[in-house]
Amino acid sequence: MSYKLLFVCLGNICRSPSAENIMNYLIQQKGLDGQIICDSAGTSSYHIGASPDRRMRAAAARRGITLVGEARQFDVSDFEKFDLILAMDRSNYQDILRLDRDNLYREKVRLMCDYASQYQDKEVPDPYYGGEAGFDHVIDLLLDACEGLLQETRSR
Ligand code: 4NP
Repeated sequence: MSYKLLFVCLGNICRSPSAENIMNYLIQQKGLDGQIICDSAGTSSYHIGASPDRRMRAAAARRGITLVGEARQFDVSDFEKFDLILAMDRSNYQDILRLDRDNLYREKVRLMCDYASQYQDKEVPDPYYGGEAGFDHVIDLLLDACEGLLQETRSR
């Protein structure tokens, strides 16, 4: 049985698709294909159907990673479908928990930065309205957090 991870941000065009693709990149690098399945979603409906943001794709490409995917909105059915749900920031975290009406899935929802070890950030900052450096930081922070998450997932 494969372990299923869902990465969640606001728009599903910057941070969470980056996390999903970086995680898949690490999974492939370590020969763990098929053992861990990754997906991503946004809490908002703003960009449904859109490709990852061009600036985010450029930052990922600078680290040798290609971003693919199509934005979708988080759905309550995701609580059952996934083993772990990773929120990029506290506002995403709260928005997800608000949809868990009967408080059944709280333990499945975590903050992505809990798995980082090289960076001290508590949240993955929203790069949307900032400059290029913000996008580069998101990629480096997610590389760190994804490494930690992968180790944690493998030990389960
Ligand atoms: P994301 O970034 O949540 O990392 O995908 C954003 C994308 C779009 C918007 C905000 C953040 N927006 O306001 O449209």
